[in-house]
Amino acid sequence: MKGKHIVLGISGGIAAYKSAHLLRLLVKQGAEVQVVITPNGKEFITPVTLSALSGKPVVSEFFTANSGEWHSHVDLGIWADLMVIAPATASTIGKMANGVADNMLVTTYLSAKEHVMVAPAMDLDMWAHPSTQRNIATLEADGVEIIYPASGELASHLVGKGRMEEPENIVERIREYFGRAGSLSGKKVAITAGPTYERIDPVRFIGNYSSGKMGFALAEECAARGAEVALIAGPVALDVKSPRIRRIDVESAVEMRDAALREFADADIGIFSAAVADYRPETTAGSKIKREKRDNMTLELVKNPDIAAECGAAKRPGQFFVGFALETDNELSNSRSKLERKHLDMIVLNSLRDKGAGFRTDTNKVTIVTREAEKSYPLKSKREVAADIIDAIQL
Ligand code: CTP
Repeated sequence: MKGKHIVLGISGGIAAYKSAHLLRLLVKQGAEVQVVITPNGKEFITPVTLSALSGKPVVSEFFTANSGEWHSHVDLGIWADLMVIAPATASTIGKMANGVADNMLVTTYLSAKEHVMVAPAMDLDMWAHPSTQRNIATLEADGVEIIYPASGELASHLVGKGRMEEPENIVERIREYFGRAGSLSGKKVAITAGPTYERIDPVRFIGNYSSGKMGFALAEECAARGAEVALIAGPVALDVKSPRIRRIDVESAVEMRDAALREFADADIGIFSAAVADYRPETTAGSKIKREKRDNMTLELVKNPDIAAECGAAKRPGQFFVGFALETDNELSNSRSKLERKHLDMIVLNSLRDKGAGFRTDTNKVTIVTREAEKSYPLKSKREVAADIIDAIQL
């Protein structure tokens, strides 16, 4: 943690008294910490304590009242290697999820370029409320790491979930993050993501329900670990966040194959997460096919290239290729035969039987299959699944 720049965001909850201890632990480990506190946060812990511990003036307002000096949230966002918000109240979480930038803390969050961690703290009913849970899910989908609250006695004397995780454990999560952060630096990762659209005529296509969320989560996770990422994306409604991701938009399987052959050739890690259409219309009509001309219609389809198999056949020693499989029957044996056929090193298996897994969800439940072993994981956010997949890769 030595020399790392951490923005510690503190919002107005009773757990703010623990933030002083967290700050002390971070500074002791060699981190440079800039505290950003909300106006309510200052009611729970004094800025004097925090600036004495961090060795820096605490930032709370957009302007210093007397001098009129402006505090730049943009500069802070660029400066930070990590932003940790502990405690994060229900209100701050709601503002973050919805971009309500009416204080310095949320504004800095919106400007943060690197990883963000959030340690919620609130009463159990507030934590359990659908609104809070919706906001937490939004933050996770935005790539924020949630340090889930623990169970125990709360300030209200009620017992339940909502206690901020202990500072020692938060520090451990931060150490783990920095351990991962540089683990792929200097590596290139190529990823296919999303569906492909196969044109029938200028207004119609054959496609599938893939949202691309798993592939985009993998791209962000690899970039967060320092990799340069080439993300070959079919038609999806998703944005890339990290500047280390180079996005190549394609539409059809043939276009995706052409881009993949270029990008996977020099990649250290290749991940095939796209749901490629297996077939395409043999011909694409140049103008819109009219209905009144026909009572029946048959489309002649031809097989699309198998992108993973073609890239796999050209794989060089030292490259590690990962495929996905969505199976309904004989899951493990089908996955292992795909490993062989496509020269892959690992298959991430989705089961359609699992609720919350697969297409169009923010969560996934996977089994990671290699030639030697298989390991099943619980239902997690797609970003956490992405982290599990990257952890399982052996370069
Ligand atoms: N894949 C690919 N190009 C294709 C088909 C699949 O790159 N034309 C990749 C997928 O991205 C995935 C893996 O191959 O990583 C397995 O996809 P899947 O659809 O399960 O395999 P298929 O070969 O299509 O097998 P089947 O439809 O018989 O299950």
